[in-house]
Amino acid sequence: MSILLHEVNKSFPNPPTQVLTNISCEIKLGEFVSLVGRSGSGKSTLLYIMSSLDKATSGSVKIGGEEISSFTQKKLHQFRNEHMGFVFQFHYLLPELSAEENILMPARKNGLHHQKREYAHYLLEQFGIKDKINRLPKQLSGGEQQRVAIARALIMEPTYLFTDEPTGNLDTANGEIVMNIFKKLNLEKKTTIVMVTHDPDFANSATRQIYLSDGKITSQAV
Ligand SMILES: Nc1ncnc2c1ncn2[C@@H]1O[C@H](COP(=O)(O)OP(=O)(O)OP(=O)(O)O)[C@@H](O)[C@H]1O
Ligand SMILES: [Mg+2]
Repeated sequence: MSILLHEVNKSFPNPPTQVLTNISCEIKLGEFVSLVGRSGSGKSTLLYIMSSLDKATSGSVKIGGEEISSFTQKKLHQFRNEHMGFVFQFHYLLPELSAEENILMPARKNGLHHQKREYAHYLLEQFGIKDKINRLPKQLSGGEQQRVAIARALIMEPTYLFTDEPTGNLDTANGEIVMNIFKKLNLEKKTTIVMVTHDPDFANSATRQIYLSDGKITSQAV
């Protein structure tokens, strides 16, 4: 189930802006790819399009050989819930739920929260926040909240993890904790990871880099 983009263009009408131009690339199963480029180069836009959260203006986006635009809303939601995890810079934990309950939220949607509880505890343990299991987000540090958000993205054991500046508001130590989690996931669970980052060191932690400049791919060594 690789992700295949062919001559993808994206423009916004208001004000008229061409954000992505003729993007063709493939994310193979099991890859760990970083998307790198200056602010405004189109990284987030590309991430949203390849992860089905946004639509291309023209061109083709296929997952496992199937055109995403041909999926019904229902199929798309189901596919995302089963196969995709998302981690963004601002992680939108639900403020009234504990760390554990936030992590189990995606499982709850499928009635799987009881089965997944043990895995939630395992993730909390791995991320070094097992002792914070019953805390509300406001009782956690930014780095701890970020790890809860990552655990939530992983609870369904997704095939793909899409992440936009996951270390953006973390200090060096917490940033490295998060990067090590990603490397381990990719290595041990073969999770396919696409990560937007400004940080050249973190970008190099991935096994491949796609460079964007002005909405075009300038390099994507395979
Ligand atoms: N809804 C929109 N309407 C018009 N232009 C937009 C819209 N969303 C994004 N853009 C423009 O598209 C370009 C790419 O935006 P994008 O968010 O993908 O950049 P980025 O590489 O992620 O930048 P950053 O590193 O700052 O997050 C920017 O010039 C931005 O102003
Ligand atoms: Mg961005």
